[in-house]
Amino acid sequence: MKKGIQYILLLVVVLILGLGVATVARRLIGSSAKGSGKSGQKTEQAQNKDKDKDKEEDTEATTEKEADNSVPMTGLTVKAPQGYLRVGKTMQLDIKTEPAEATNTALDWSCSLDGAVTVSEDGVLTPNEGSEKNTVTVTATATDGSGLKQSFDLRILPGIDPSKPMVAITFDDGPNPETTNVMLDALEENYALATFFCLGQNVGYYPDVVKREYELGMEVGTHTFAHKQLTALGAEELDSEISKAVKANEDVLGFKPKLMRPPYGAANKTVLKAVGSYGLCCMNWSLDTEDWKTKNADATYKMVMTATDGDVVLLHDIHQYNVDAVKRFVPDLMAAGFQLVTVPELYENRGETLDPGTIHFRTDPTTESAGETTAASSNDGATAPESATTAP
Ligand code: NI
Repeated sequence: MKKGIQYILLLVVVLILGLGVATVARRLIGSSAKGSGKSGQKTEQAQNKDKDKDKEEDTEATTEKEADNSVPMTGLTVKAPQGYLRVGKTMQLDIKTEPAEATNTALDWSCSLDGAVTVSEDGVLTPNEGSEKNTVTVTATATDGSGLKQSFDLRILPGIDPSKPMVAITFDDGPNPETTNVMLDALEENYALATFFCLGQNVGYYPDVVKREYELGMEVGTHTFAHKQLTALGAEELDSEISKAVKANEDVLGFKPKLMRPPYGAANKTVLKAVGSYGLCCMNWSLDTEDWKTKNADATYKMVMTATDGDVVLLHDIHQYNVDAVKRFVPDLMAAGFQLVTVPELYENRGETLDPGTIHFRTDPTTESAGETTAASSNDGATAPESATTAP
């Protein structure tokens, strides 16, 4: 028994010693292999990897010597002035680096969609051809090794080709969160733009919807404060309806609107003068969908689809019965070759101006693209209609 136990203990001691010797031996072999660069146990691949690593280390050492990063960046902010941009337009980014005496403030730019945008050294962003109808994340990375990074999202809208048909869809009387937001979804999904003539009082009730309209690139105009027929008002009330409306937009968006759609399309010289004194241009329409009369999505859809190049289309974003019409005509108009643009984009691309105190209905049909001419009301710039229509 005793002998048996002694034998087992001896075996354990021998085993432990053996393991220890083996470990030391392995370490010794390993270090000698590294030192000489030769090892029978190492494969050729492993040796090549070691060589590459050595090279990398050499390159890093050289870069450090060349680039003086003695004062590293401690802060980086990159802001885009807007969350959308059309192909063909550029945008100056607002870039701030800290501290002022940082040695290397150069940035590397990358985009979640390879090659979708280019950013110049002075921070001018250009969306590249073919990048439209994408929402991308643009990232700036410091090159001084500080690891600082900043990203922002950008919706890239299709560029406008003035030689191709375009229409300006316009919505009056809103916003109404329940309906306006669904219409905005349809426009957003299709990378399409429109113009919203908001009522001043509704702007105050639903500022978030108005902000969303603006942030998506929509033109936000005014439809007066409380939807009174301007031609029926005395001077004081006329001024108040316009000034309160302008202030409502300014309070929410931080700037004054450029366009006003008079309720019922009713304007005369007195109204135009008052509107003009606020820097506003009066924008009526050339195609009335009569949505307020038919109250039928299919009828509204069919009316919108009769639009021709240069038309300014009137509908209302406050009605549930218009939601389905918008969902259908936005992609269908685009598939039919129409560019869906804001009113200012339509006029800019047709070389026409929207001056304060003037009234417009559509762009000049004689300057439109190839052969879409119909005898649409083209009394653009002429005297305003004498009396109000019955549209809401
Ligand atoms: Ni209205």
